[in-house]
Amino acid sequence: MSTRNGRDEGWSRSTERRSQHPGPHPNRDLGNRSPYPRRLDDAHMSSVLSRALAEGILQSSDCAAVFYDLTHLDSALCALRDSFPSTALHAAAVKANPLIEVLKRIRAAGHGAEVASIGELQLALAAGFAPSDIVFDSPVKTGGELSLALASGVMVSANSLAELARIGHICSVENAAALVSVRINPEVGSGAISGTSVAVRRSKFGVSLLDCRSEIVRAFSEYPWLAGLHVHVGSQGMASDQLLQGVGAVYDLCIESIGVSRLSFFNIGGGLPVKYHESDSPMCFDEYAHSLRKRCPALFTSDIRLVTEFGRSLHAGAGWVASRVEYVQDHPCGSPTVLTHVGADMFLRKAYRPDEWHHDMSVCDSAGHLRRGPPRTFDIAGPLCFAGDFLGRDVALPEDLQEGDYLLIHDAGAYTFGMWSVYNSRFFPAILGYEDEGVSFQHLRRRQTTSELVRFWSRG
Ligand code: LLP
Repeated sequence: MSTRNGRDEGWSRSTERRSQHPGPHPNRDLGNRSPYPRRLDDAHMSSVLSRALAEGILQSSDCAAVFYDLTHLDSALCALRDSFPSTALHAAAVKANPLIEVLKRIRAAGHGAEVASIGELQLALAAGFAPSDIVFDSPVKTGGELSLALASGVMVSANSLAELARIGHICSVENAAALVSVRINPEVGSGAISGTSVAVRRSKFGVSLLDCRSEIVRAFSEYPWLAGLHVHVGSQGMASDQLLQGVGAVYDLCIESIGVSRLSFFNIGGGLPVKYHESDSPMCFDEYAHSLRKRCPALFTSDIRLVTEFGRSLHAGAGWVASRVEYVQDHPCGSPTVLTHVGADMFLRKAYRPDEWHHDMSVCDSAGHLRRGPPRTFDIAGPLCFAGDFLGRDVALPEDLQEGDYLLIHDAGAYTFGMWSVYNSRFFPAILGYEDEGVSFQHLRRRQTTSELVRFWSRG
């Protein structure tokens, strides 16, 4: 397994510990206290990849494919449900993983969907979510989109006081059955990653609690249809304390100035970080719920409906990518370059902000068996036509890595293919769902066809 810059002394130790056989299945590995699915390791990925290759599910045209462990998702959905009150609505963030088949599975588990655009709203409806289980919270909603969402009974989160006024106009004009909340920016400051820290001064998200407290309170007396409060503090990189502080600040506003009885629901957003490095120890759902219950007890009573919007923590650990090594290019000085089939098109953040984002990597041979040679460093280059298309520099990988192998990119189930870039018109890869360690596979999405690609760039 590689680590940042290949300098982790634990590399060879952790390789030694690995067995050829996959460990226990996530569902069978639930401790008593924290029913959170375990992190998929390279032995698991190798076992699934070998099966996919042996059964011809992964074909030679699939120079890269995403694998998604549906049982892992089920475990995460269960853990989420069991951590919060049974009346809570868990609206999974569609942007993290917009696959219709995955959304259907989330719906079947009794959860909802958070959508950040009218397109995502259409995806959620296509997956069969009831409008009342969908939260629509784009920062840029047109009047037409608001009318549509309000008329269909979707929960709408207003991003600003101006948007509330616009909704007020639509409500009075069209008498829509609105389920509206207002998003508050608690301004708890930036986390470790500025691009995913939204609770900062001059954020484009939410009404400033510091500057507009009285206007927010006034809105609740002015608009009888205003039924909820919404806060989302940020995504990966936020400290546990910041998440709690952000939700806590909006909770205090509710208790002190609005009143729990005035609200129907309170949306705490998402933002639970996930484990991208073995040394990370992020809070899991039950720990977060436990701390929240202490800080915001009324949210755990029947007086109000709790809404959550987790994305990354549901999906990231369930997905991984196998990308064929097309070339290994030696250099007279420095690490050889591995040229492979995904880069900045799928791992946008990793390529553009390499110091902020990380994915462990491993290598399998062309039959899917793990390579276990001693480590040496490689640069990992993607397929795109620009010099910055790298997934890593000086990454420690087995020295026997060679052309035709598969590079495994771990923890890739959230905000990866969902942020796909069409630059260079590479085919969107197949996404293979599997259950039970790869005993049964299903295409969650087939590899993009030539006609689909041509249609994308055609007049339409
Ligand atoms: N709710 C709202 C209003 C959000 O904006 C987000 C994420 C979520 C929920 C879900 O947050 P999560 O539980 O997934 O952390 N890699 C992407 C991440 C952007 C996150 C956007 N919002 C990027 O770099 O753009």
